[in-house]
Amino acid sequence: MMVTILYILVLTFFILLAAMVIVPVFFGAPWHPLSDENIHRIIRFADLQPGETFYDLGSGDGRVLIAASSNQCLRGVGVEIDPIKVWLSRCFIIAAKLTNKIRIHRGNIFNFDVSEADVIYLYLTHQALDRLFPEILDRMKPSARIICYRFCIRNLEPTKVNKDKNLFWYQVSKGRTVNEYS
Ligand SMILES: C[S@@+](CC[C@H](N)C(=O)[O-])C[C@H]1O[C@@H](n2cnc3c(N)ncnc32)[C@H](O)[C@@H]1O
Repeated sequence: MMVTILYILVLTFFILLAAMVIVPVFFGAPWHPLSDENIHRIIRFADLQPGETFYDLGSGDGRVLIAASSNQCLRGVGVEIDPIKVWLSRCFIIAAKLTNKIRIHRGNIFNFDVSEADVIYLYLTHQALDRLFPEILDRMKPSARIICYRFCIRNLEPTKVNKDKNLFWYQVSKGRTVNEYS
């Protein structure tokens, strides 16, 4: 009896894990949890300012939003397609006592309202980025910036790249110009 229960628990665990990692591949990008060091590198590169609104499209476990909002006076917004990660990230946000600063929406990045974002952070595959750009630029504030981790936006010139060449900063107003004439 105990063995059967244990077997069911282990099986359930692996089914949930597979759902969290594999299912999102079909919607845009798989999940790959970041180390704390990488999260802090991303936050430093984004140069977040007090009062800004920080969006994470495909927010995963919400740890980037938590790191961004915990030390800075900013508002965090995440959208995530996977209900398990939505639930997990909301639990982390409650534990971090940041419910007044961060909102996680269960939804699809491809039709999410980004008009309030000052900074959009993206850790998505080239295929997902190709679907988002350039259309998303018309739905963003001209003053906004986009920070991409690992995957750059094809056909857009970054304003800044880190020395490891895995963090890319795009100014939305410049992106529009590039798209207009290229
Ligand atoms: C590589 S992970 C990045 C997670 C988080 N942003 C981070 O940097 O740690 C990509 C995330 O995007 C989510 N995702 C993939 N396609 C999506 C879609 N169409 N709409 C919303 N979320 C999506 C996946 O479930 C996954 O959690």
